[in-house]
Amino acid sequence: MSEQKTIAGFSKLSKRGKIRWIVENFYKDPETVFNELVSFWHPKEDQQKVLDGFSENTISNFPLPLGVAPNFMINDKVYLVPMVIEESSVVAAASAAAKFWFTRGGFRAEILGMKKIGQVHFVWKGAFEKLRSHFDLLREQLMLNAKPITKNMEDRGGGIADIELIDLSDKIPDYYQLKAGFHTCDSMGANFINSVLENFASTLTSFFISNDQFQGQEKDVRIIMSILSNYTPENIVRVTVSCPIPELYDEKTIPNPKEFAEKFYTALQIAHVDPHRATTHNKGIYNGVDAVVLATGNDFRAIEACGHTYAARSGQYSSLSYCSVEDGTFKFWIDLPLAVGTVGGLTSAHPIARRSLEMLGNPGAEDLMKIIGAVGLAQNFAAVRSLVTTGIQKGHMKLHLSNILTQFGATEAEQQQVEKYFEDKVVSYSSVREYLEEIRKQG
Ligand code: MEV
Repeated sequence: MSEQKTIAGFSKLSKRGKIRWIVENFYKDPETVFNELVSFWHPKEDQQKVLDGFSENTISNFPLPLGVAPNFMINDKVYLVPMVIEESSVVAAASAAAKFWFTRGGFRAEILGMKKIGQVHFVWKGAFEKLRSHFDLLREQLMLNAKPITKNMEDRGGGIADIELIDLSDKIPDYYQLKAGFHTCDSMGANFINSVLENFASTLTSFFISNDQFQGQEKDVRIIMSILSNYTPENIVRVTVSCPIPELYDEKTIPNPKEFAEKFYTALQIAHVDPHRATTHNKGIYNGVDAVVLATGNDFRAIEACGHTYAARSGQYSSLSYCSVEDGTFKFWIDLPLAVGTVGGLTSAHPIARRSLEMLGNPGAEDLMKIIGAVGLAQNFAAVRSLVTTGIQKGHMKLHLSNILTQFGATEAEQQQVEKYFEDKVVSYSSVREYLEEIRKQG
């Protein structure tokens, strides 16, 4: 068995100390790796401090490219959209789809709901009917005791939307929930919601103790946990594109609009009935969604977790987007749950997230949802368009080739010659290198 390397007090080491221990224990060439990790430190100490503040045991930074997709027309307003993603073709595909729909009416986006959810999970040994009959009083106390936390949010137009008492004792003995809805304005609201829920939990505990109607074991409530739910099916944006079928015509990509619309529609049907295809289909949507979510400092894990639960809400995992081809009109839309914020958290603390939001004209949460939804739909349109026409490898290979040529420092003339040569051939790193060497020898 290989030697196990453990350490006590790692977090107490200085940053250089941490790196030193790591390179000496996990790498064959410690000096090279030490210097490489240090070379990714931000040149400005104060900026590096900001980045270090986001996590723990930090040793360096992990850069990802920040790209932009221009010409996104959403509800008649044009956006330049920042995208952080490590996968080639994604930004190009989003830009191409944005350009395509720019001349066909753009994206129409509407908010279907902004409600977030939180739960207090508790175990209580008593008759549910009795608790239910006292619920109006309990609700009043929950609202009143939470006032010091909710006041500011209420002044901004948000707060607690509703509180329900839910009986789940048929699933787990004596298990109940307080399930609350929240409006958190332009913030994602996690801290607000969790603070209110913990306050609810202590109100619930004292409610049983102080109320004479409850006796004996009815006085004991066991709070299991109080936490927001990342599943927000009522925090939804709907984004739509549509046009008369003949207007889908595009010389390069859609020479036959009718056939395209039919194939596209069938591709969507497949994504609705087959979970294997649905997963890849939705992955394509999240290529775009995550990229903007990341660029704007939002929580992509929460967004993805929610989206996939939503995609499975019927009991079978399915497509997040829909297509109809009716009365000569092609319509393609998405309903996407997106609990994002534009104030608080990383959105204002991360220097580039701040710049990304500025690039978008400092949107509120609703507008950011519309933008992210549009990028998700654009990404999905671009992917399915490629899949039902040329296949995705053509576009991927073009970018792959261009990346390889950059690596070899190809001149403009060499690039043109290589691109022409590989028009009808399979691109690989070695085949491009060999061909480039051949041209260079000849010329
Ligand atoms: C690749 O990252 C995403 C696609 O596979 C999405 C799809 O198949 O719809 C192209």
